[in-house]
This record gives sequence, C-alpha cells and structure tokens, in this order.
Amino acid sequence: MPFDFELRAGEDLPAGAFARLRAAGPVVWSEALAGWLVSGAAEVRIVLSDLARFTSAGTPVAEVFKGEGMLVNDTAMHHVIRAVWARHVSRPAMDARSADFARIAAAVLAAAQPGGGAPIDFMPLFRRMVLEVITLLFGVPQGDWPVIEHYAALSADTPALGYAEGSAAQRRHEAGKAAVYAMIDAQVAERRVRLARGEPPADLIARMVAAVGQNGITETVMRDNVFNFTLGAVDTTERWMGNALARLAANPADAAALRAEPARIEAYLDEVMRHDTVAQVIQRKVREGGATLGAQALAAGDSVYVLLGAASRDAAEHDAPDAFDAARPPRANFGFGFGFHYCLGLHIARAEVTALVAATLAAMPALELVACDLGPTWALLGPRRLVLRNHPAGANGRHAA
Ligand code: HEM
Repeated sequence: MPFDFELRAGEDLPAGAFARLRAAGPVVWSEALAGWLVSGAAEVRIVLSDLARFTSAGTPVAEVFKGEGMLVNDTAMHHVIRAVWARHVSRPAMDARSADFARIAAAVLAAAQPGGGAPIDFMPLFRRMVLEVITLLFGVPQGDWPVIEHYAALSADTPALGYAEGSAAQRRHEAGKAAVYAMIDAQVAERRVRLARGEPPADLIARMVAAVGQNGITETVMRDNVFNFTLGAVDTTERWMGNALARLAANPADAAALRAEPARIEAYLDEVMRHDTVAQVIQRKVREGGATLGAQALAAGDSVYVLLGAASRDAAEHDAPDAFDAARPPRANFGFGFGFHYCLGLHIARAEVTALVAATLAAMPALELVACDLGPTWALLGPRRLVLRNHPAGANGRHAA
C-alpha cells in the first residue's frame, strides 16, 4: 500500500491516510516503508504488550540509543529502572508541583508580552517552558540548555526515519549525543558530591545516581537512562502545546469555554492528543518465530510501524473518530503509547502543557491564529512555527471582523 509521512499541501493528511488505512485493514504491508502498518486499536495493543513476539530491539530508535535506555530495554531491568523514578513523576507528584508549573508558565509568557497585540511565534516559548521544566525536575542548569537544544534539533523526526549507516547526519547525531553525555557526566559528578555530603537526592538525576549499585543498576544503566529520560521531554511536549493552542486560537468558542472553566483544559488536551496525536508512529520488530496479527503472517525480523494516531481514531472505539469533539466522553487514546513502554513522562507533559495553555488563555483574551507551519512530515505531528496574537480590538472586535 502506498504510504509515507510526507506532509503535502492539499492532501488532507493525516485524515486521508487514515481513511486509506481503514479501507485496507488493521494490518497491511507497505512497500514504501518496507514494513507492516498496524492501525487497528486491538492490534496495536497486542504489538505493544506481547513482548514474546514483538521487540524494540533492532528498530531505528534502538539503533540511535544503542544502550540500556528503558525505552529500548524489554527485560526485567526495565521495571527496575522505571521504579527509581515512577513515584516521583506520578500524577500526585506532579499535582504537588502545580504551583511551580504555573509560575514557570506565567514567567515564560510574561517575557513575550503576549497581551500587546503583536504576532508572536510561540515555538520558542514552548521550548523555553520545556527547558525550564527540565531544570526544575532534573536539575540541569540553564547553561546546559544549548546542548539539549542542539541534540533535540538533530533528532527531530528520527523515530520515523532513522539514519543511514556512515552518513553525515549520523556523524552529526553521534557528536550531539556525545555532548549530551558529557553534560550528564558533569551533572552526575556534581550529584555524587552532594550525596557524599549526606544531602538527600534533590532531583531526578540525583535519584538515579543514588540508585547505582542497587538491583543491578550499573553506571551504564544510570547514564543511558538519564539520557533517555531527560531527552524524552523536548519535541513531543512542544508539539502538544502547539497542537492545542493552534486549535484553540482557531476556535474562539472553545477558548472562551476553557477560560471560563480551566478545570476542563485537561480533558480538552486529551482530545487534542487523540485527534492530533504527536507521536504518530513508533516501531517494533517481529521476534524469532514470527507472529500472526490481524490475519496476516508476519515473518521474523519484519519491521512493524505502530500507527498510534490511526489507532486513536479507530471507529470501533470512538464515535465519528475523525471529528474533533471538545465534549467527547473520556476514553484512553494511544498518544503516550501502551503497555510495557507506556510513557514515563506523561504526567510531566500533562502538567506543563496544562499550565502553559491556562496561562496563555488568561494572558490573551482575544487569542487569534496568524500562521501555523507543520513542517515536512506528520510522523511527529505538530507545528514547527506557530504565530499567534491577541487581537488588538479585543475578543469582541475579532468576532465582529
Ligand atoms: C506530549 C509529550 C509526550 C509524548 C507524545 C510522548 C510519547 C511517548 C510514547 C508514544 C512512548 C512509547 C514509546 C514506545 O513504546 O516505543 C513514550 C515513552 C517514553 N517517554 Fe514519552 N512522551 C511525551 C513526553 C515525555 C516527557 C516529558 C518525558 C520525560 C520527561 C518522556 C519520557 C519518556 C520515556 C522515558 C519513555 C520510555 C518509557 C519506557 O520505556 O518504559 N516523555 N513517550
């Protein structure tokens, strides 16, 4: 089946691609991607939870990480690693820091003077918010932000694309990654000094450093997972912010409803994630012995493209799945994956995106969309550039126009 992740003007993507997938079936072979496209919700659940038949090993992401990061670790050690952090990034843990998230969001926005009426590209503001949160939770100092930003720029869209072996892009990626590891090593050394002084672990890096030597956690496991966890936080979160605010800016009635009742922002964000799923695709490989999925026979070593966005619009689970419905009854979607590798940063992302959206709606009573550029691919769906403004004539003036 012809299928790719290029975003071409006028082609109604991704909805057009999802319609073709629905017609073709929940599991179909793509010549263009040389792999299986899995778009049915039931089949996606199987791929992401049946570790005996499907694995992250050998996928482009695993090749990029090439280490012991939890995202590409299908062994029992995966749970040991997650357990170090899980309690500290849980829903209650993030709720307890809601004032910090609100303070950061307000400061990020205030610097841009969003109420003034001038058009503002919000992507740098989203980046600032995400970096501030990394500083808050991981203790990475502001001076190290450029290292993270450089690496994020190099790795944008790799989940779908991977790198050709020996290519210049791969060499650049390796250099960027080495810089992040050097930054992590310096942070780890600093945490060790503090721990040796008897200070309790004050951030997420310190917690993993303190766990070295316990339950099989080695230096390598520690470094690779600090890398995995810190770097999971950047592009995806920014795109969720972008998708939400692009939609709100284009739908003043929705924006007004959330301004009046900010407690509804979270549910709105869930529907944004379902409809405009950021991580549209993740990958797996079929293990030795092959697998049967959706009546198709998958051979050992076959590539599997797990289409999270398509599965989040499965008509068997959501009425009128292609419609955006701000009042849709809550039901889980696949925006943060499913099963074994379900996103560990979900509550962090939710807390920061909620805070940023709430602060923007409050600061811009006549929020208006000026321009939204989704870039060349929908594999990681969301704006690369998002220009918004607060209409100078105010909300009423804007509505009358
Ligand atoms: C809107 C924001 C985000 C989206 C859409 C997102 C999406 C995802 C998805 C789809 C997976 C599953 C990948 C797979 O199964 O192959 C995942 C895993 C993961 N994410 Fe996120 N993520 C977001 C934010 C974050 C943040 C803020 C962090 C960290 C601060 C983070 C850290 C991780 C980690 C560590 C894993 C691997 C978990 C495991 O293997 O057990 N993510 N994420």
